[in-house]
Amino acid sequence: MSASDSFPDASAEQEEFEALAPAAAEALASELRRELERHERLYYRDGQPEISDREFDALLRRLETLEGVHPAVRTVDSPTQRVGGEPLEGFEQVPHDPPMLSLDNAYGSEELGEWGGRLDRLLAGDPCHFVAELKVDGVSISLLYEDGVLTQAATRGNGRVGDVVTENVRTIRSVPLRLEGAPARLLVRGEVFMPRSVFAELNEQREQDGLPLYVNPRNTTAGTIRLLDSREVASRRLDCVVYDVAEPTLAETHAEALEALASFGLPVHDGWRRCDALESVETYIEEWEQKRAALDFDTDGVVVKVDELSLREEVGFTSKAPRWAVAYKFEAEQARTRVLEIGAQVGRTGALTPVALLEPVFVAGTTVQRATLHNYEDLARKDVRVGDTVVLEKGGDIIPKVVEVVLDERPEDSEPFIEPEVCPVCGQPLVRFEGEVALRCVNPACPAIVRESVRHFVSRNAMHIEGLGDKLVDQLLNEGLIEDYSSLYSLRAEDLMGLEGWGAKSAQKLLAEIEKSKERGLGPLLHALGIRFVGERVAGILASHFGSLEALRSATHEQLVQVHEIGPKVAESLEAFFAHEGNGERLEKLVSAGVSVEGELAAAGEKPLAGKTIVLTGTLQRLKRREAKAGLEALGARVSGSVSKKTDLLIAGEGAGSKLAKAEELGVEVADEEALEALLGDLG
Ligand code: IVH
Repeated sequence: MSASDSFPDASAEQEEFEALAPAAAEALASELRRELERHERLYYRDGQPEISDREFDALLRRLETLEGVHPAVRTVDSPTQRVGGEPLEGFEQVPHDPPMLSLDNAYGSEELGEWGGRLDRLLAGDPCHFVAELKVDGVSISLLYEDGVLTQAATRGNGRVGDVVTENVRTIRSVPLRLEGAPARLLVRGEVFMPRSVFAELNEQREQDGLPLYVNPRNTTAGTIRLLDSREVASRRLDCVVYDVAEPTLAETHAEALEALASFGLPVHDGWRRCDALESVETYIEEWEQKRAALDFDTDGVVVKVDELSLREEVGFTSKAPRWAVAYKFEAEQARTRVLEIGAQVGRTGALTPVALLEPVFVAGTTVQRATLHNYEDLARKDVRVGDTVVLEKGGDIIPKVVEVVLDERPEDSEPFIEPEVCPVCGQPLVRFEGEVALRCVNPACPAIVRESVRHFVSRNAMHIEGLGDKLVDQLLNEGLIEDYSSLYSLRAEDLMGLEGWGAKSAQKLLAEIEKSKERGLGPLLHALGIRFVGERVAGILASHFGSLEALRSATHEQLVQVHEIGPKVAESLEAFFAHEGNGERLEKLVSAGVSVEGELAAAGEKPLAGKTIVLTGTLQRLKRREAKAGLEALGARVSGSVSKKTDLLIAGEGAGSKLAKAEELGVEVADEEALEALLGDLG
């Protein structure tokens, strides 16, 4: 079955793509790949998706169709070729046999019907039954029981290799450590998740402690299962369900297998149902669409599986997913409520985000009182007004969005919302830069900007001052104990001890953390300063290139743009930052407080790999990937994430896959871990 066969709804796109010349197809494919990669990063790494799963899938399908029509544009590292995320460092890894596959999605009953139609054709009239189960929105897990005892638990990783997280999974109460009556070797698959009630409690506690809130239960589960300290995992009270047997075959049907798993004591969610036809699967879906809001876990759909294992064998798998199962995705949970007020939040860069203040409403497990309206353009397009009834959607995240206005319920006297002209916090006029959507407050003394910039300065990936949460930052500013980030270093124990609930011990502890932050070095400092377009990565590049704050400050525009990956936008932003008088004063204060403004710059003669681009792939046995990267960078190399014609060397660890193939295809030199060690050892 080709890619286009599996998505018959793509025929219009197919025609569009057939008309494309090879160069145009190549350009479109590379644009789609970049776009998909960006959304993957937003979703998995940042936990801040900009588009829905459905929109993401539509993009992915578009690329898949394009690759089907023009096979030459398919690359080995295309997002269509991957099963999941790469395994992480810090955990032992284990291969998955059989691999942990993903599922194709179906949105709406039409697509479900299309999946059924394809099955019918493949089965050529053999009658089949289905099992419908809830799709729990968590993190997939593989559990191995030997002689009835849980001996190994592993995350999905990239589907072929995962991380061994046995200790962490042992802390989950619903996972039995010992089974009753199970075969000598039993390998099962399931989902670890954080109940909504536990997530809500955890966030309440974090709010009290002044820590940033977690975005949603799924991301929190993913973060928790990878914690290195299993006592910490135990305190998070994760839960688990089991939905599949990988080995051995326990029965002739999936329904019987689920019953067997439950009889061994494994946590099978009892909401599953055997259905004679897709009509009854649809009834099941409708029922759970109603009931799911009341569940104590997030569910994003229903998994429909062929019940007869013999028929599963007949239809088989594609490279990514079984043909005998499909994930029917629910619409995101929605609710209606009234807009009481339209306010705004001022971010660190001064950008305003309009926010709707709402009549409290219960949706997807929590009570919601605020929703984001993204930006003023979006707000105007949706024409949201005070007094309007709106539809809210919560894609599992804690901040819901306003989807649309219910125009039938608009009050007669309602008036269009007018964009603010002044900052709601400091009252200064707002500006909109050319080509930008955002309205901005440009007053560097605006209390909201100052507050956000201090919060950013102390955050984990910047100066990382432990114990200085959002609440404490607010308190220090409100009490006038600090005026901006630079005055953090003048704080005295007496100042802190004047705050309610503070004693000598807690004050000393915080001061020690502040002291420690002075040694973070130039990279984290540059990131902490919150210069526009200078994120963690760019800050690191600048630090290792220039080596000191002084060298960076005195660099000319030409010198800046000559640095690999530094463009004119970043250069201009740096120049504007250093030209600003207030910034100069704050930097002086940091320097005189003893904050380190030096980077890890080695002398030119000690940089034998300067100008070389190196890519690391696969699993390294002795070195941590982070260490290898740092070592190579210290020798002057640029360590990149993807192989291209510009790559000078690929270091391939165990299990290297698509990147190795690409390097070989492009004739890029390949070395193994031993060679890497020699490189680092001899030259370092
Ligand atoms: S069956 C080879 N059943 O959804 C079939 N998956 O999008 C394996 N999931 O990776 C999957 N609930 O993490 C199956 N009842 C269920 C599920 C379920 C949640 C997850 C699972 C899988 C993903 C696929």
